Amino acid sequence: MSLPKVFITRPLQQAAVDRIAEHCEVTWNPEDVRLPAAQVIEACREVEGLVASGTPVSAELVEQAPRLRVVSTVGVGYDNIDVAACTRRRILVTNTPGVVTEATADLSFALLMAVARRLVEADRYVREGHWQHWSWGCMWGTDLVGKTLGIYGFGRIGQAVARRARGFSMRILYYSKERPTAAREQELGAQYVDRETLLREADFLSMHVPLAPDTHHLISSAEFALMKPTAFLINTSRGKVVEEAALVEALQSKRLAGAGLDVFEFEPQIHHALLAMPNVVVTPHMGTATSETRLAMAMLAAEILLAPLAGPLPPGLAKLEVNGS
Ligand code: 8YV
Repeated sequence: MSLPKVFITRPLQQAAVDRIAEHCEVTWNPEDVRLPAAQVIEACREVEGLVASGTPVSAELVEQAPRLRVVSTVGVGYDNIDVAACTRRRILVTNTPGVVTEATADLSFALLMAVARRLVEADRYVREGHWQHWSWGCMWGTDLVGKTLGIYGFGRIGQAVARRARGFSMRILYYSKERPTAAREQELGAQYVDRETLLREADFLSMHVPLAPDTHHLISSAEFALMKPTAFLINTSRGKVVEEAALVEALQSKRLAGAGLDVFEFEPQIHHALLAMPNVVVTPHMGTATSETRLAMAMLAAEILLAPLAGPLPPGLAKLEVNGS
């Protein structure tokens, strides 16, 4: 009996490839770059499984992969997968929630601290030789203690950010479609408020929503108009959640004090004005980029892929998040 064929869109860790190869015939893209769509389609013509990382899965690809049964995406967001097209073909779509939480929350908090204390700007200042003598007025930033952190979206990552903020004695407000139990709110020291209150009161607004039609441009001019001019925006969720032109406008007109951004509306392109602003810290969509987390993601994506292709779910993976449910 021939083994199911699987294609992996990026060179994941060998341990994950080996695990899949125990039950499948595996091919992969050896370069850590996004393959042209036509090449991915070509690579998927005969496969039953696709491990997709940083690569869109379009309706066209799905149509031209008649044997495809499972798309295992390496990450929590599945906005670049045409889930409807997969569902029509009864192709299972899975993601890797849980394992991405802590690293992404760490980066959100790192960006928050970087903008509050002007870390990148200060580093540049020293390296460029501007630090000639100590001065009283050099590099004043913003305290975190007592400030209000507004968490927009209170799923796993939003809650993990709240846990970090508690340690810095911040006041934590959140707005979210879904609310945790009162006990959990209490444990996290987080208070639910309506959207407008969140925007008006946040000194730091941190975005933690998935990208979906109803979250596209969730933050735009109307929202910036409600925010404090001393507030900072932190975004490690998805770039298209924030209208980048409106963000530039808000920063240029001093409607907003600064931003820490890991994701961009048209990434990897970034609005040139943002790159010229010292009060904006930018990183290359690296929320989950730690060796531990990327390994956990790759291994989980491998296990989840194998479940439908090679037998029952392994212990501990009792529930798959299937097609957005
Ligand atoms: C991944 C991410 O790097 O989990 C997510 O949703 O954005 C990142 O962890 C990205 O999905 C590429 O696989």
